[in-house]
Amino acid sequence: MNISHDVIIVGSGAAGLYAAYWSSTKADVAVLSKLFPTRSHTGAAQGGIGAALANEEEDKPLWHWFDTIKGGDYLGDQDAQKVLCYDAPETIYELEHLGVPFSRTPEGRIAQRPFGGHTRNFGERAVRRACYAADRTGHVILHTLYEQCVKQNVHFYSEFQVLDIILNEDKTKCTGVIAYDMLSGEVHTVSAKVVVFATGGSCKNYATTSNCQANTGDAFGILLRAGLPLEDMEFVQFHPTGLAGLGILITEGARGEGGFLTNADGERFMERYAPTVKDLAPRDMIAQCIYKEVLEGRGINRTGRICSEDYVYINLMHLGKEELQKKLPEISDFATTYLGIKPWEEPVPIMPTAHYIMGGIPTDVNGRVKRNAQGDIIEGLYAAGECACVSVHGANRLGTNSLLDLVVFGRRVGLHVAKNVDQIDYGQVPTLAAQATEQCIADLKQSTGTERHGAIHEDLANVMMEKASVRRTEESLTECRDALLELRQRFNNVGIDDKGNVFNSDLLETLEVGYMIDFSLVQVEAALARRESRGAHLRLDGPMGEDGKQQQMPRDDANWLKHTYAYLDNDTDVRLEYGEVYLLQDHAEDGWEPELIERFKPKERKY
Ligand code: FUM
Repeated sequence: MNISHDVIIVGSGAAGLYAAYWSSTKADVAVLSKLFPTRSHTGAAQGGIGAALANEEEDKPLWHWFDTIKGGDYLGDQDAQKVLCYDAPETIYELEHLGVPFSRTPEGRIAQRPFGGHTRNFGERAVRRACYAADRTGHVILHTLYEQCVKQNVHFYSEFQVLDIILNEDKTKCTGVIAYDMLSGEVHTVSAKVVVFATGGSCKNYATTSNCQANTGDAFGILLRAGLPLEDMEFVQFHPTGLAGLGILITEGARGEGGFLTNADGERFMERYAPTVKDLAPRDMIAQCIYKEVLEGRGINRTGRICSEDYVYINLMHLGKEELQKKLPEISDFATTYLGIKPWEEPVPIMPTAHYIMGGIPTDVNGRVKRNAQGDIIEGLYAAGECACVSVHGANRLGTNSLLDLVVFGRRVGLHVAKNVDQIDYGQVPTLAAQATEQCIADLKQSTGTERHGAIHEDLANVMMEKASVRRTEESLTECRDALLELRQRFNNVGIDDKGNVFNSDLLETLEVGYMIDFSLVQVEAALARRESRGAHLRLDGPMGEDGKQQQMPRDDANWLKHTYAYLDNDTDVRLEYGEVYLLQDHAEDGWEPELIERFKPKERKY
């Protein structure tokens, strides 16, 4: 069947739905999602969404901007980061007016709590910047936006999985996508004036992750295979507090409300590493400190190894049952259900968990996709949310800036599309556009291959976790790359058992594993090439120190203050290009004030 709409949004999390909401004020809009929309992973976002709402004395967008730059270890584009932080208050108020039920202060204002790396007055102390709805902030935003889209007559194709993109020959225009209807097994050619990818995260390529089953980074695989680049994919965020052994998220809001971490000696070890903000240091630092504590034998079970038996504690007992059930009900439930621990009675075992990809599909601040490091735009193609790289998070995202990124840039895409869609034509869609996808599905069904997606996925996630997670070396990354190339070989011999058409998850999960191999290769090659430590990318294989021990690589602004653009040629060959980071200091022509230029110059990050 051929489907046609002015605007096709791929993905139904907050970014996709906000883009749909605003673009539907001017165009016929459809959302394609492999899930039912309200099951999107935005619904799992717990602790809050950042915005400087307070009066100028207590907080302001300028300080949020500074924290975002510093938190990202200076790799973010400073002009884009300004947009994120200055659009934040009006976006939050718009969400409130659309019906998002934020928690309230006694005075009736939107309640806000502290979060890691968010400070008042350029680092003076932690500030209350995370607007929240208990610990279900993403859930309420997702449901509100879905209701608004229904009201606007946005068309939903739920359980439609997009498997390919349609571009013209020189990749300057996008004219649609190829989608698979899970219910019938039919392949559809979907034509549109505008396609928006808002497919969310990708951390299912790591064994320990807070991400849901659907976060397999399909868009990354699709765009790489179409010859388009991904930006800064080596930067993967490990959230410090996943339930030990499981990876299920314990929100940073728990530390925002006063929770703190301890090691086997009962020591609040973050006081040693980040004396000013302690347990509210940024995530990259805390995750790296937890690994260090465990490796140096101060994990609770003192194994000295990163393994499922060792962890540190998050302490919440002092908050009391009533407060926990009021402000952190979801995580209290998780600890009780999954570990049998009541957090008001006992500390909760935690370890870092793969949470977020800072990199993604390169875009400008209106979500238009770039097709190279020079910034050339693809007409009719947008991306927003976690799958996009604007880039506002640099080498490490601050907590709460993820929900904010979804809504600020989802909304900006919607507004930009609404303004411009009339000037965009439906492009040519080749008659046989779906042929390659249909052939690939037929080949898989006929394959006599002996490999299965489950085993390949498990090996992929384990090797990524072991060799390309919080701590990296040339050796570990090379081993990881070699293992991925072997997995690619094994994948060439994959078969499926379900040959049917109705809800064939065997088929779709196999395709997802193929995408994961693709973008994991890109992540690892980009990480191998980047010979420095910056944000979440910690390279331990630095020079020898005076003590005869190998040091970690230092941050290297002279050589590495640049964005990675990675392409995948011939299934396995990663090609890297580099692009400029927008720093105020290099753009005096844009009229930035000298005081700001000085303030935002890259410096050593201390908390
Ligand atoms: O900790 C959390 O609630 C997660 C927030 C985020 O990733 O921004």
